[in-house]
Formats: sequence, C-alpha cells, structure tokens
Amino acid sequence: MRDNETAAVVCGAGSWLPPRRVTNADLAGYLDTSDEWIVSRTGIHRRHVVDAGTSTGDLAVEAGREALKSAGDTQVDAVVLATTTPDRLCPATAPEVATRLGLTGVAAYDVSAVCTGFVYALASATGLIAAGVAERVLVIGAEAFTTILNPRDRTTVPIFADGAGALVLRAGTPDEPGAVRAFDLGSDGENSDLIQIPAGGSRQRSAGTPAGPGDGYFTMRGRDVYRHAVERMAASVRRVMDRAGWRLSDVDRLVPHQANSRISTAVAARLDIPDERCLSNIAEVGNTAAASVPLLLAQGSRQGWLRPGHRVLLTAFGGGLTWGSAALTWPELDIQGD
Ligand code: UT7
Repeated sequence: MRDNETAAVVCGAGSWLPPRRVTNADLAGYLDTSDEWIVSRTGIHRRHVVDAGTSTGDLAVEAGREALKSAGDTQVDAVVLATTTPDRLCPATAPEVATRLGLTGVAAYDVSAVCTGFVYALASATGLIAAGVAERVLVIGAEAFTTILNPRDRTTVPIFADGAGALVLRAGTPDEPGAVRAFDLGSDGENSDLIQIPAGGSRQRSAGTPAGPGDGYFTMRGRDVYRHAVERMAASVRRVMDRAGWRLSDVDRLVPHQANSRISTAVAARLDIPDERCLSNIAEVGNTAAASVPLLLAQGSRQGWLRPGHRVLLTAFGGGLTWGSAALTWPELDIQGD
C-alpha cells in the first residue's frame, strides 16, 4: 500500500459465543473418542455450540452489535459476512443481519471461503474503502458450524464449533494505528474435494442422483488438509510480510486461524516466530472456521494480548482450498462482551 493512499483502518471489534459449552468428556459420552485424543491431537478442551433454533445470522448480529458499539455506535455503508453456514442457501445472510442491526439500505453480501472467509472478507471490505465505494464497513465472520456436522462423525465433531467475531473498518491513512497494510490471498481448486459437503449444490442436483445418507454433511480429509495448511499458511505469511515491508523481528503478534494447535505451532516454528507472540484460544472455542480469526482478534484485544501499535499478521487456511494473510497494526479499542 503506498503512503498517499486511503487505508482501511480498524476502529471497532466484537465477538459472540453461544452460551452452551460442550466439553471433550461430553463428546466422549456418545462418540468413540476421548479427552486425551482430542487434547493431544488438536489442543481443544471445550467449545461453544448453538442451541436448537439459533443460526449463523443470530451470532453475526450479536458480534456485529458489539463491534459497532466499540466503534462508537457508528453507522456503516456496507456489511460483509464471511460464513460457511448461511442461514439459507439463498439469499445471502448479510442483508438480514444488516437490517437487524438497524443498517437499513446498506450494501450487504456474504463471502464464502470456508475457514479463510474472514481474511477474504477483510480484503473485500478494504477494497470497498480504497475504491471509495464505502467509508465504513462492518466485516463479520460467523458460523453455526455444528449445524453441518454429522453428529456421529468423530473426525469432525470434536474439532468444529460455533461463534462469531467482527471488525469495523473506516477510511483513514496508512500510518494510523489500525491500518491494514497488505494482503496475500490464494486458492487451489485441484484439491477442492479435501473439504466439502458433497450434496445440496448444483452438481449433485443437476446429476439427478439422490444424495447418499451422509452426503449432506461436512467432510474433511484431515491428514491431507493438515499438510497443506502448514505449508500454505507459512508461505502466505512470508509473502504478506514482503508486501508490508516487514521483517520477522517487526512482527509483534501472529494471529493464525484456530484449526488445530499443532498446525499453529508448526506454522510459527517454520516462520521462526516464538510461541509467546502467537495468539491462541482454540482450547476454549475449538475451530470456528470463518469466525476464528475475528473472534481471536476481539478476545485478544479485550484481554490485552493485542495492544495498540502492535504489528499483527493474520493468516488462515481452509476449504477450496483457500488461504490468505493480512498485515495490520492494532489500534486502541474499547471492547465489551465475551
Ligand atoms: O479449519 C481449516 C481446515 N481444517 C484443518 O486445518 C484441520 C486439519 N487437520 C487436522 O487438524 C488433523 O488432521 C485432525 C485433528 C483432523 C486429525 O488429527 P491427525 O493427527 O491427522 O489424525 P488422523 O486423522 O491421522 O487419525 C489418527 C488416528 C486414526 O486411527 P488409525 O487409523 O491410526 O488407527 C483415526 O481413526 O486417530 C483416529 N481418530 C480418532 N481417535 C479418537 C480420528 N478421530 C478420532 C477421534 N478420537 N475423534
């Protein structure tokens, strides 16, 4: 980003977790798994899960409200919502979220890049501001991810969970605390089958073949995804640092998508970023897909892990395959809530 350009500047953050908590012991009560396996393989101890009837849009509204409040109850011109679990297949969930937040008539759309969704949405919102389309944008990552899991699938149920996080961006200058400096985004459709819901889309419907019993559920080839995740996130972080003109010693905090604590540790090790600079909340919230990065940013800021002036790298990886990283500085924020 050149210094005379308009920059997108973070001016608010918020997050929301559904109140119901599910422990590993709860899962081991009905799945062939154990607390020991889940903790040692993923770093997850417990997670939040929506109650019957609660949707992604409900979580997005709560996180969005917190973020708008922390930005001084500001108005925005657009709402960009990253999610894998929209309230309905059609239309997008963002317009209804905007209306429920009292943001009548604003631009509102969803971004679909699975666990990378929030970084893509942040880039999209930054582009709206840079192009002069919007002065202020609410960017939300929200998932009622447990609604697409097969409740009997021990390879996904212990990992994925529900939650929402949000940032407010405003037009500003690149030297301000909170300025978003650079992005790296990428994809690899050759491996689109590693993470998928096989049925329910136009491919299955147009073939006219009825969906198999488990085909409407989310599936993941975990071991293959793991390998790609480490390589892709580490490479993406290197590229975004180059674009931001930062060296490793300039980086105060790495905020990785909370896929698995072993993945985060491996990415930080490849980059030579010490563990104490790497934020994590996976033990308490699990993998919340598109909500993971903004949830960690909001919690990190509230708890003082992220401080004004910190140089922060975000990185995420997910289905598609997709990956993305962003470099930004952290602003002074007043955040309430979870
Ligand atoms: O969010 C973005 C995308 N997602 C990710 O980045 C996730 C990437 N993948 C992972 O995090 C890991 O691959 C998992 C956590 C999903 C799995 O960990 P793993 O170390 O790769 O385990 P694995 O799939 O290789 O399975 C090891 C063993 C298998 O048994 P065998 O074949 O060795 O006898 C599995 O059947 O663990 C078994 N297993 C389980 N055992 C107890 C699989 N799930 C469970 C379970 N409890 N829940």
